[in-house]
Amino acid sequence: MTAPATVTGLLGEIADVGRDAKRGGYSRHGFSPVESTLRDWFAEQAARRGLDVSTDRNGNQWAWWGRPGPDAVLTGSHLDSVPGGGAFDGPLGVASALAAVDRLRAGGFSPRRPLALVVFTEEEGGRFGVPCLGSRLMSGSLDADAARRLTDRDGVTLASAVAAAGLDPAHLGEDAEALAGVGCFVELHVEQGRLLDRLPGTPPVAVASSILAHGRWRFTVTGTGNHAGTTEVADRRDPMLPAAAAVLAARRALGGRAEARATVGRLEPTPGGTNVIASSVDFWLDARAPLGSDTRAVVEEITEAARAAAVEEGCALAVRQESFGDTVLFDAGLRDRLAAELGGVPVLPTGAGHDAGILAARVPTAMLFVRNPTGISHAPAEHAEPADCETGAQALATVLESLAGSPS
Ligand code: GLV
Ligand code: MN
Ligand code: MN
Repeated sequence: MTAPATVTGLLGEIADVGRDAKRGGYSRHGFSPVESTLRDWFAEQAARRGLDVSTDRNGNQWAWWGRPGPDAVLTGSHLDSVPGGGAFDGPLGVASALAAVDRLRAGGFSPRRPLALVVFTEEEGGRFGVPCLGSRLMSGSLDADAARRLTDRDGVTLASAVAAAGLDPAHLGEDAEALAGVGCFVELHVEQGRLLDRLPGTPPVAVASSILAHGRWRFTVTGTGNHAGTTEVADRRDPMLPAAAAVLAARRALGGRAEARATVGRLEPTPGGTNVIASSVDFWLDARAPLGSDTRAVVEEITEAARAAAVEEGCALAVRQESFGDTVLFDAGLRDRLAAELGGVPVLPTGAGHDAGILAARVPTAMLFVRNPTGISHAPAEHAEPADCETGAQALATVLESLAGSPS
């Protein structure tokens, strides 16, 4: 038997796939040629381990150790990234799942429950705007017709991208059969903050407790396109002003709301010329808070600021919710069991969304976090130390051995 693969070695194999020369880091999006290369890599890795690989109706990849379901123990994450993202968000969970299988095999383990690895598609929503696309479709929390109509920045619909990737878009949607086979799901992920690093002793691994309620809203402000040099102030209907008011309101709205977050990370003026007053501006608000009601209150406050500025400037404002997920509290029994089996590791909340947060509504779900020494994520500088990654893979192997080695 060959030695178990290291997590760092596995990540190294895809280190050149999807690099973004302009933004830095990686741009790996759903149903793209880059994603297809990553899928082929995962399928090859799984096949090399004798796992049976298949792609479900929503483009998620599965690799089975043993016969599929029922009551399977599922682990995995995603391989796509945000635009200009880091190397760990997603791939760490996939590489750790492969490495954990190697470690279990090397220890002579034979699962009593079916064990499967999964790669969810388009978790970041970096191309089609809806995060956790694959797991939302699978769980039925995203309407298939609405999904098929989603478009990317070039106007390509999800339906045509899915077809170009060799899948039938008519088959997108709730996958009751796949879900019914899952007994529990454990996703390992790089921590996207510095809670672990700030704890005494900087422990390398934690178990997740909760995810903030979060969503995305698209704002469209419409004004009048005009000349930057000749248009007098009284004649301007500049949609950038309400957009700017919203950006400032997003920061203001956080005052007094502990743990709330509001971010405008994407703003697109049309036509986008230096000497042109834009005719319209689209921008996207990402808002999060411990409670769904607080998240919505933050969005309402920002919308009101944008609306008042739009009225003052003579512009029109339209706001559309693109996604929303309420607070996730991970399964308490599984959470406590994993923390205990790992020797009493910390239990931490997160502000980041995950496929595990979607599956948690349907099956007992847990997450493991691996220490991130800078806390940086969704950026090229995202990092986890190699030794911590191996500790994470061993932690995942330990909990998989326990879960798949005993009846549920
Ligand atoms: C995904 O990582 C998100 O939190 O948006
Ligand atoms: Mn992410
Ligand atoms: Mn992720």
